[in-house]
Amino acid sequence: MTDERVHIRPEIAVLPAYKQGRQAEASAFKLSSNENPFPPLPGVVEAVQAQTAFNRYPDATALAVRAELAHRFGTGVDEVHVAPGSVAILHELAKATAGPGDEVVYAWRSFEAYPGVVTVAGATSVQVPNRPDGGHDLDAMAAAVTERTRMLVVCTPNNPTGPVVTAAEFEAFMASVPPTLLVVLDEAYAEFVTDPDAVRGPALLERYPNLVVLRTFSKAYGLAGLRVGYALGPAYVLDAVRACAIPLSVTAQGQAAALASLERESELLERVSEIAALRDRVVTSLREQGWDVPDAQGNFVWLPTGAHTQHAAERFEQAGIIVRAFASEGIRISIGEHEAVGTLLETARSLVGDLQATE
Ligand SMILES: Cc1ncc(COP(=O)(O)O)c(C=O)c1O
Repeated sequence: MTDERVHIRPEIAVLPAYKQGRQAEASAFKLSSNENPFPPLPGVVEAVQAQTAFNRYPDATALAVRAELAHRFGTGVDEVHVAPGSVAILHELAKATAGPGDEVVYAWRSFEAYPGVVTVAGATSVQVPNRPDGGHDLDAMAAAVTERTRMLVVCTPNNPTGPVVTAAEFEAFMASVPPTLLVVLDEAYAEFVTDPDAVRGPALLERYPNLVVLRTFSKAYGLAGLRVGYALGPAYVLDAVRACAIPLSVTAQGQAAALASLERESELLERVSEIAALRDRVVTSLREQGWDVPDAQGNFVWLPTGAHTQHAAERFEQAGIIVRAFASEGIRISIGEHEAVGTLLETARSLVGDLQATE
């Protein structure tokens, strides 16, 4: 029978599909996907509901959203690209720049989608281990660049470990890599960052013509289900990215929601500061319990549970909290509903004792 099957590229045949954070039972808290716990703001819901012409295709270029973002960031409209999530832009960037025989460098552990993005493009992943504190090892990443490297991704704050890259670290890094190397700064969680030393991509675009910054409406703006992300960068790079995009894939509803959210940004960002403050409280409490939690600058915290990861994830689940487990490394817990925090901390406290006892 095997010879009747169609040909699948061998590297794709063994590539697992993207693994989503577990869905939760109605009674459990889903803290496994770094989602925003707040429901959409009323005006945003209405803007989406007003888009009822489903018989028509959306604006393929998402021009209104791009124009608004260009205005905010002081760029040209062609220096903004909008896609169905920033994960789509990662795919488009890899396809535009890297093929068979080419390399893409990124830190590991980092965002789960990176390995698949590189493999689908036909290129090879070069993973550079994080520092012991969970931050990127930028010196090692720069050293991993060869003449075959076409793209390098810096994730700040790093999902799932939490720390940011500082502005000083990033500037030193940019000075050490070739100006012909595309550097992608994935800032999916930028709005949650409170560290004043953190790098901020948009301000650096003029300085580095090989830089593309990725942001998303999925996290801080709470539009994960509507799929809108964007890139800022040089027009010729984004033109190549647009050529690799699946046409018409940002819906009119997504575009309307993004625009309405930008109009209500101050209200949304108040919620974001609430989440960031809660995150800081959770980190402080976890450290007081004895956990070695890396600096957390996104809407999530990392527990280095090592060999006990599966057991720890099960304990959280029994307590009604779905977390994201990375086998034999650790657990990422999103900062979601206030009501989840008590159980989160109680479970973490009971676990830390057990783990210390078995060490
Ligand atoms: C670091 C990072 N980049 C990009 C994304 C993709 O987000 P989206 O495709 O929803 O914009 C995520 C989502 O979890 C992420 O964690």
